[in-house]
Amino acid sequence: VDTEEEQPIEGLLARRALRLRENLGAGFAPPQGQVFRLSAGVPDPATFPLEELSKAFRAVLLQEGDQALQYGGPYGYPGLRDILAKWISEREGLPLSAENLMITNGSSQALDSACFAFLNPDDLVIAENPTFPLSLRTVYAHDARVFGLSLDEDGPDVGKLEMVLKKADREGERVKLLYFTPNFQNPTGITFPLERRQAILDLASRYGCIIVEDDAYGELRYEAEAVPSFFSLAGGRGVIKLGTFSKTIGPGLRLGWVLAAPKLIQAMAALRTDMGTSPLLSHVVAAYMADGHFQQHLKDNISFYRGKRDLFLSLLAEHFEGVANWRAPEGGFFVWLELPSEADELVAEEALKEGVMVSPGFRFFSQDAKHIYLRLAFSFIHFDHMETAVARLARVARKLLSAS
Ligand SMILES: Cc1ncc(COP(=O)(O)O)c(C=O)c1O
Repeated sequence: VDTEEEQPIEGLLARRALRLRENLGAGFAPPQGQVFRLSAGVPDPATFPLEELSKAFRAVLLQEGDQALQYGGPYGYPGLRDILAKWISEREGLPLSAENLMITNGSSQALDSACFAFLNPDDLVIAENPTFPLSLRTVYAHDARVFGLSLDEDGPDVGKLEMVLKKADREGERVKLLYFTPNFQNPTGITFPLERRQAILDLASRYGCIIVEDDAYGELRYEAEAVPSFFSLAGGRGVIKLGTFSKTIGPGLRLGWVLAAPKLIQAMAALRTDMGTSPLLSHVVAAYMADGHFQQHLKDNISFYRGKRDLFLSLLAEHFEGVANWRAPEGGFFVWLELPSEADELVAEEALKEGVMVSPGFRFFSQDAKHIYLRLAFSFIHFDHMETAVARLARVARKLLSAS
């Protein structure tokens, strides 16, 4: 039923709804036949721990069903917060407790909660440019503005960050939130080194900004030592860190968390309007973690995705030599391919006709969109299909780029 014809909704929609509707983009027509997806930053279903989760479901329903099927409150199931606090304390090197955590419907909702608690309409948020478009949508959904900081190979331009903060300060504007993805950034795969993190943190503390640290991929590191997080470097002060089970277990759980000082957690919890995150799923994941499965699963995932990354990089070297540039990511799901000229949409469209789906890079920019990048995800595509997909994509790119 389409009631819009009877009552046009244009005059009813909030400004943010109109803006986000325009922001959705045209997208491509769904392709016919088999499609190799290098577009989606999602896990390979071969990694889903189906057996262990079904056992945990059964145990939870039979042993804890009376609690697990009730409402759980805005902070989320204390059992999961306890177990997460213990695990994260070890990783961050800080003594954390359940009071430092709120369970959310994925880290997307964790960012939404931070925006809800700290942003007024028209507030300015500083983020990487390019960045994850759904995070931009979340900020825009709060009627806030985004300034996108360009990136070099080590992350955001700190000089520019200082300039923007200084200018805002001069004009009497308080920048409250800085949104960064310092590990294996989506879409570039960049990891900020320690010095860059420290410089950003110094500026954030000088200007009284909260850093929102999105660490959706942080656990999936395939080489080298982990760099201390903003949260850890700041001793947990002035940083809101977002975490998720989406990349390590599965996004269908819609289970994530926000880690921060208790005062900040309380401010975000006070604004929950959704009656909390599923207690049932939270109990199940807590039981799964308590049995030690998660730790083993992470180890297995790291070696699985390291294998995928390595094969993908060797295929890029074989097929894209002399056509494009890229850097090997130390973890996460993405390679950011730089083309010699502006052809991201054209290559993406033509590749789709050949059954290969990629994300044109312009979609990841909040301003000054560049059209010379493709974001390639190696996480989802089956090992056996990688060679065909990369070879087809390279053939399309070579043809279009030599013609332009
Ligand atoms: C940088 C980043 N943050 C957050 C998310 C969303 O995660 P979740 O499923 O936990 O909401 C993604 C998913 O692609 C992501 O790439």
